[in-house]
Amino acid sequence: MYTVTVTSPEQTMALGQRLANGLQAQDVILLDGDLGAGKTTFTKGLAVGLGITRNVKSPTFTIIREYQGGRLPLYHMDVYRLEDGSGDELGLDEYFNGDGVNVVEWSKFIADELPANYLRIVFKRDDEASEMQRTLSFEPVGEHFTELVRHLEDD
Ligand SMILES: Nc1ncnc2c1ncn2[C@@H]1O[C@H](COP(=O)(O)OP(=O)(O)O)[C@@H](O)[C@H]1O
Ligand SMILES: [Mg+2]
Repeated sequence: MYTVTVTSPEQTMALGQRLANGLQAQDVILLDGDLGAGKTTFTKGLAVGLGITRNVKSPTFTIIREYQGGRLPLYHMDVYRLEDGSGDELGLDEYFNGDGVNVVEWSKFIADELPANYLRIVFKRDDEASEMQRTLSFEPVGEHFTELVRHLEDD
């Protein structure tokens, strides 16, 4: 596991941007952590790294937002409001086996529908240290994501 502490939204975005370089179609990135922890901020950076020029907005009320025009499409999901077991209706599988990069906020709500391999990133605030401090833990599952995190660590 790789852990990194950042002290500004820009640093969180920069991490997302760097991660984007190694991503390929069908990758699944799970972003977990409380409201305001920085999951959407990270995704904004990841989109920039993919070369997407549209501004990424939180998909909380739409559940899925799609961004074309970058090196790969980005499918940004926030499944917080998904009813239990309705991942099926959303067609999650089609996204996961599709042509783009998948980013899922609040993955605990689709725990039964996760693919075999993924990268989970857990965001934690530390308000006692600073209002802008976040610790990100990268927890890869599978060889591809383990390799990806190794590169991130080395850069
Ligand atoms: N280090 C940091 N990383 C990310 N966001 C930060 C950081 N410090 C402060 N913030 C602020 O915290 C909020 C994070 O919101 P957001 O990314 O939407 O979180 P989430 O998607 O996890 O609910 C933003 O207002 C952002 O400006
Ligand atoms: Mg969010």
